[in-house]
Amino acid sequence: STTEVAVVGAGPAGLMLAHLLQRAGIDSVAIDIRSRREIEETHRAGILEQDSVRMLVDTGVGDRVLREGSRHAGIDLAFGGGGHRVDFEALTGATVQLYPQTDVFIDLADARERDGGDVRFGVSDVSVDDITGDRPLVRFTDADGARHEISARILVGSDGSRGICRHAFPEEGRRQYFREYPFAWFGILCEAPPSSEELIYNHSERGFALISQRTETLQRMYFQCDPAENVDDWSEDRIWAELQQRVGPNGYTLKEGPITSKVVLPFRSFVQEPLRHGNLVLAGDAAHTVPPTGAKGLNLALADVRVLAEQLERHLRHGAEDALDQYAERALQRVWKAQHFSYWMTTMLHRLPGASDFDLRRQVGELSCVTGSDAGSTYLAECYTGWPTRERD
Ligand code: DHB
Repeated sequence: STTEVAVVGAGPAGLMLAHLLQRAGIDSVAIDIRSRREIEETHRAGILEQDSVRMLVDTGVGDRVLREGSRHAGIDLAFGGGGHRVDFEALTGATVQLYPQTDVFIDLADARERDGGDVRFGVSDVSVDDITGDRPLVRFTDADGARHEISARILVGSDGSRGICRHAFPEEGRRQYFREYPFAWFGILCEAPPSSEELIYNHSERGFALISQRTETLQRMYFQCDPAENVDDWSEDRIWAELQQRVGPNGYTLKEGPITSKVVLPFRSFVQEPLRHGNLVLAGDAAHTVPPTGAKGLNLALADVRVLAEQLERHLRHGAEDALDQYAERALQRVWKAQHFSYWMTTMLHRLPGASDFDLRRQVGELSCVTGSDAGSTYLAECYTGWPTRERD
């Protein structure tokens, strides 16, 4: 079969792109090797920038994010014996929305179903071919075992950090920028009331902890751990003791409850450039990964596809030859800002193995510079709530 845009990877980036393309009258087919259920059950971050919320609302998929999400006008940075609020709204006029990524995915998948979009979950043996030709191809086996070949004008790789599309770029024509961190996050979901109204980013001598929320009865928390940590070595008692010891010195006490999920999340920074080879373009985690501190991953993916949908329309409807390169250039500006912000938040708040007392005191000094100055906290607030996206060229 044929389509205009074949989208490899039907997570939030791929589905949002398909949704935006349909609104512009452009046909697409999206495929994913995971089942819909598998994607729905993978817990991810929960913070949406103001413009991410606006994109959902403006394109008709914003009912639930407004109704069930909660507006956060700031965060607490906890360090050196106390909490320090960064008031995003007062500093920048912007707020963020707590709404889990899995729910964004559900809303987008429902919208594709409602609008008759072509999305195939649970496919296998995916390959992308002829990417420098006029009719690039995606081949795959569907969930019922039938083999398919889709011929498109443009292929989009939104298949995440373990996807195949980034590897379809010839090695001599691509650069991969990579950074690893010597720690990870231990993430939990627990059945308890919220321990605070806003997120707490907590620096401590025992390492970082993040107190987040989900609902009135379900909470999300993380603490810095060794990347090789095994979740089975952590009983509920041990987890709560560790979390309490991290936030206690800063004056917080967590409300405890049964832990329903435990996971170790790796930390890395990655960018592949360019974002385009022939008629294949990358978007979202397929092109770049950020460490989770600051919750930029999903927001960056949505910002990518917003620009990509505009440029695909210019390319497919108006024959603009430079459109795909413009996508790459505009998306990468934001990508590197988000890379810096995620790296900065990570290194300011985490304890490096072998950190000295000097290192910890210096971090407290850095955090004090941020919270003690309007310039410092406005800088953080601007990054956290998201940079403006330039309007259509
Ligand atoms: C959440 C995750 C993050 O990485 C973050 O910076 C903020 C919140 C979350 O899962 O709620």
